[in-house]
Amino acid sequence: MAKARAQYVCAACGAVAAKWQGRCEACGEWNTLAEEAAASAPVSLRTSGGSLIALEPLAGQSNALHRIETGIAEFDRVTGGGFVPGSALLVGGDPGIGKSTLLIQAAAALARAGHDVVYISGEEAIDQVRLRADRLDLKDAPVQLAAETKVEDVLATLTSAPPPALVVIDSIQTLWTDLAESAPGTVTQVRLSAQALIRYAKKSGASVVLVGHVTKDGQIAGPRVVEHMVDTVLYFEGDAGHQFRLLRSVKNRFGPAAEIGVFEMTGAGLKEVANPSTLFIGERDHSSPGAAVFAGMEGSRPLLVEIQALVAESGLATPRRAVVGWDPNRLAMILAVLEARCGLRFGSFDVYLNVAGGLRLAEPAADLAVAAALVSSRTGVATPVETVYFGEVSLSGAIRPVAQSATRLKEAEKLGFSHAFVPDAAFEDAPAGMRLEKVATLGDLVAELAAQMSGQMSGSGR
Ligand code: TYD
Ligand code: MG
Repeated sequence: MAKARAQYVCAACGAVAAKWQGRCEACGEWNTLAEEAAASAPVSLRTSGGSLIALEPLAGQSNALHRIETGIAEFDRVTGGGFVPGSALLVGGDPGIGKSTLLIQAAAALARAGHDVVYISGEEAIDQVRLRADRLDLKDAPVQLAAETKVEDVLATLTSAPPPALVVIDSIQTLWTDLAESAPGTVTQVRLSAQALIRYAKKSGASVVLVGHVTKDGQIAGPRVVEHMVDTVLYFEGDAGHQFRLLRSVKNRFGPAAEIGVFEMTGAGLKEVANPSTLFIGERDHSSPGAAVFAGMEGSRPLLVEIQALVAESGLATPRRAVVGWDPNRLAMILAVLEARCGLRFGSFDVYLNVAGGLRLAEPAADLAVAAALVSSRTGVATPVETVYFGEVSLSGAIRPVAQSATRLKEAEKLGFSHAFVPDAAFEDAPAGMRLEKVATLGDLVAELAAQMSGQMSGSGR
């Protein structure tokens, strides 16, 4: 038998390297490679001796997908309508963000609705889970609890009874199996444990939820190493300094990806936020320069967010560029376009950009709002009131149209906005109450803002 060779596995992404390196070449994370015994050499496959499988046509009867709703609307939206029987769902997130809280609330909601629910905690003792349930006022919900980390024991218990509707495993990193010799939390252990539980889900029809911590050190495998095995991947995000939490679907075999659910962490658990726009534009100060409201989309849902910019004279040889909640490369691009196409100089200024409320934006449609905030802060004049912005800026300075403009405008109107700066392209009808300022280039935006701002300054208003 060949001697087991050592190999190095990245705890963040699961990539395998032949020798140790400080940085994983696959995902770029530092200090995540750890030694694990390599699987024995693969034997070559024989092509004879297997049994025949039936091949089916694409058209045919499939059972309508039946889902189990939790009744927590923000949660059900993100899963695409509830838990799917026989599927595996991964909920990832930083430690302390509220994953256990969210799942005990979802588990209790299902149990109260008469479903059979099992909650396996590998991290906390039963007493701790009970204390949390007490605090959340869920003590009466008939959830079946266990504190266990050995996969074989968990599976033996689950298979000894009719399959429950929902099994929550909190967390996948604490589980271990006899099949592997490596320590709990290593990539091998996490993958094997996840595989066994996913197989159980498919076979029994139970819906299995795996909780995974996003880890920063290389000793414990992160949730990314099981992402490809599960049907649905949700990430629970938030900012330690803020109350709200976002549940985001990044992969969903049974529903839309990129949906978000918004929650607020309160003293009595997670509360749903049904109208998140009010949260992110709530603390606006209309008179100070450097703020613009972006009419964004998160999945199928419109979301208004305030973008804040501060452009201040710099004493540094290389002025600072600091960004919270947006892509720094995109900020550099917008600044370059403003310099090259609109004649606004930023070279001797520090630039700070912040997305209100700790939200992270990924949409290029935010370009126009960012540009408006920058122009406003650079010129020292507040942007026009009750105005929203959306549009993608290209390197030529042209404003490109973005998807779902009607939905964005409708949300803006609903929240009392009356004006919108939008790309100068034909698009769906705007709500009657909205006045549109169509801008073809970034230069048009700067000129239009300058005109409106001077009107504002001379007191004529609008
Ligand atoms: P938890 O669900 O344990 O996080 P995770 O499982 O993701 O590690 O939540 C931990 C934090 O949430 C903790 O710092 C306390 C806070 N919290 C509240 O603010 N209110 C509550 O009702 C609960 C249960 C927790
Ligand atoms: Mg937890």
